[in-house]
Amino acid sequence: MPKHTIITMPGDGIGNQVLPEAIRVLDAVGFEADYVHADIGWECWRKEGNALPERTIELLRKHKVGLFGAITSKPKKEAEAELAPALKDKGHQYFSPIVSMRQIFNLDICMRPCLSFPGNPLNFIRKTPAGGYEEPRVDVVVFRQNTEGLYAGVEWTNPPAQVTDALRLHSKFKPFNNVPGDELAISVRIITRPAARRICEAAFRHAVKFGYKSVTICEKPNVLRETSGMMEETAKEVQRQYPGVELWSTNIDAQTMWLTKNPEDYGVIVASNLFGDVISDAFAGLVGGLGFAASGNIGEEVAVFEPTHGSAPKYAELDPPIVNPIAMILSAAMMLDHLGETSKADQVREAIAAVVEEGKVRTYDMMRLAGGAKAISLGAASTTEMTDAILSKLGAPVEKTYAVSSRS
Ligand code: NAI
Ligand code: MG
Repeated sequence: MPKHTIITMPGDGIGNQVLPEAIRVLDAVGFEADYVHADIGWECWRKEGNALPERTIELLRKHKVGLFGAITSKPKKEAEAELAPALKDKGHQYFSPIVSMRQIFNLDICMRPCLSFPGNPLNFIRKTPAGGYEEPRVDVVVFRQNTEGLYAGVEWTNPPAQVTDALRLHSKFKPFNNVPGDELAISVRIITRPAARRICEAAFRHAVKFGYKSVTICEKPNVLRETSGMMEETAKEVQRQYPGVELWSTNIDAQTMWLTKNPEDYGVIVASNLFGDVISDAFAGLVGGLGFAASGNIGEEVAVFEPTHGSAPKYAELDPPIVNPIAMILSAAMMLDHLGETSKADQVREAIAAVVEEGKVRTYDMMRLAGGAKAISLGAASTTEMTDAILSKLGAPVEKTYAVSSRS
């Protein structure tokens, strides 16, 4: 019997195209697992009024490790309009299933590696003083706190009187004292010390394990004195246990400027939720963007691995599919690392590196083509062809092997 059971949640749109490709690669490196399909996303919302059904939560609770594709989400009014007639006006509210998953299982550590593969035409290049060009090697891993901060969801437009009364206790609220409720929106930035400590510790552990010389805490403590202040203070405390790793501190605004100046100087970056979201997308843009951006959401018990991209609905119906499966396959490699299968994870990354370096097989994004069916006739590889190329570097046969078992 396979050693692992993996919950597969392809979700919506291109999630259904890329997730099976990752399984083909996992098979090819000899990862033995049962894959159990679980429903998530827009169809669940439409038909059941819940984008993250209880049965999916149960499967994750039981088996602990999930691979997730992508979901579609739409603004409130559209979401309500698309509900099955029997569910309308029954008080169903759309919640993002990813955010729900992070909250239910306290997946508080979000890890987003941004590694440039030599030969990727999308890699960041810069001018040299002599007038030439150079391509710095980017090898950054962002550790983003995943459950708190400005994404904790504590927010109001027209807040209740108790909230505004409490805020009036703060002298800095004075300018807002007389703003009418319906003209006042408030999002609360919550940082707790234990969660700050966990994300900082995860960052330092990773730095030590993989030989990074520095951890950069990327916040704004000079202005957000309490919340960013607590993040920075905690990073300093944690650093004392890791004397071999330097702690650098940068401000989020300056960091987004510097990352195109000297991205090779950075290693591990740690940040609260919103700043981590921003800085990981910014670094991902230097190494190929959405086709290459992988992530892991890691809690104490459960972990879910997913590409950063969404469901790209406009490409979901194309046959053959054109989107780049590498972000999903890199997410699966992160899952292998998490399960202690590091040599298999390295094999996957090396195979991707070899395909990218060779440059013969490139999806439309890597060729900077407009997306669409035409991309294939202009020489872009299809989603499947990209996976085939990766499989051939692994010395594996290229037929499709994805089969979802119903065992749970
Ligand atoms: P998106 O990430 O789905 O697509 C944006 C654009 O990026 C696409 O049109 C395509 O040009 C490119 N792209 C995305 N993935 C790619 C890939 N693997 N290879 C090549 N190119 C790729 O974001 P968008 O269009 O803003 O949102 C579409 C839907 O996805 C929305 O309903 C949104 O709410 C949802 N979404 C879901 C996420 C998730 O499941 N984690 C994350 C972001 C958006
Ligand atoms: Mg983002």
